[in-house]
Amino acid sequence: MAILEARQLQKQYVMGEHVVNALAGVDFVVEAGEFVAIMGPSGSGKSTLLHLLGGLDKPSDGEVTLAGQRLSILNDKQSTLVRRHNVGFIFQFFNLLPTLTTEENVALPLIIDGKSLRRYQDRITGLLDLVGLTDRRHHKPDQLSGGEQQRVAIARALVTEPALVLADEPTGNLDSKTGAVLMDLLRRSCDELGQTVVIVTHDSKAATYADRTVLLKDGQLAGEVYNRDTDDMSQRLRRIIAALESLAL
Ligand SMILES: Nc1ncnc2c1ncn2[C@@H]1O[C@H](COP(=O)(O)OP(=O)(O)O)[C@@H](O)[C@H]1O
Ligand SMILES: [Mg+2]
Repeated sequence: MAILEARQLQKQYVMGEHVVNALAGVDFVVEAGEFVAIMGPSGSGKSTLLHLLGGLDKPSDGEVTLAGQRLSILNDKQSTLVRRHNVGFIFQFFNLLPTLTTEENVALPLIIDGKSLRRYQDRITGLLDLVGLTDRRHHKPDQLSGGEQQRVAIARALVTEPALVLADEPTGNLDSKTGAVLMDLLRRSCDELGQTVVIVTHDSKAATYADRTVLLKDGQLAGEVYNRDTDDMSQRLRRIIAALESLAL
């Protein structure tokens, strides 16, 4: 079953006289439980695509179907609810609320959805443990390192157990060791919780955690690398690098 379907997605940004063709007709299907990486040079439309897939922005043309719902026929309130109930977002700049503690930031999506926190305390505790922040639960964001803040954002993205996790350059601000821990966490949330994960990255190593890597160039799909058939990370990496090289990306 496809959890995400994009058909002929187009996005133009109009800047006065000038039109930027950020996406020029992208077809993209993600099956439930898949882990997909999107790669491509800076400016190739990766973030634009991720925003459209998650319903954070509207396409100029084409259609996104998320969890069986055609986003184009929903009003803002309806698409907010589809998003809230199905998608966890992880951005490079963590978007944590500075006045809230780690625990409160993680719980925020539940609070927004009007859930009783007492019922979810076990899940919050479990997630803090999973991301290794149990002893930082009462810290505010400015008392945490960049890597710790990123892990708060990850726990927050997972707290509603969303069917789909969308992450834009999730390792972008992390040292390589913390980046590997994070990618491992996303891989496990896919394998153990059955979550679908779509990440944008320009780090080929991060992309080796995905089953499939989609390559974007100039707002169009330029290629695809299938890695589900092997767990050998160096073989996965070689395939990704070969594809990037063959497309001169
Ligand atoms: N809000 C915007 N207004 C105008 N142009 C934009 C906007 N967002 C992105 N762009 C342009 O669209 C193209 C694709 O951007 P983006 O999706 O951010 O690429 P990537 O994430 O691959 O670096 C770039 O040329 C960028 O300058
Ligand atoms: Mg980007």
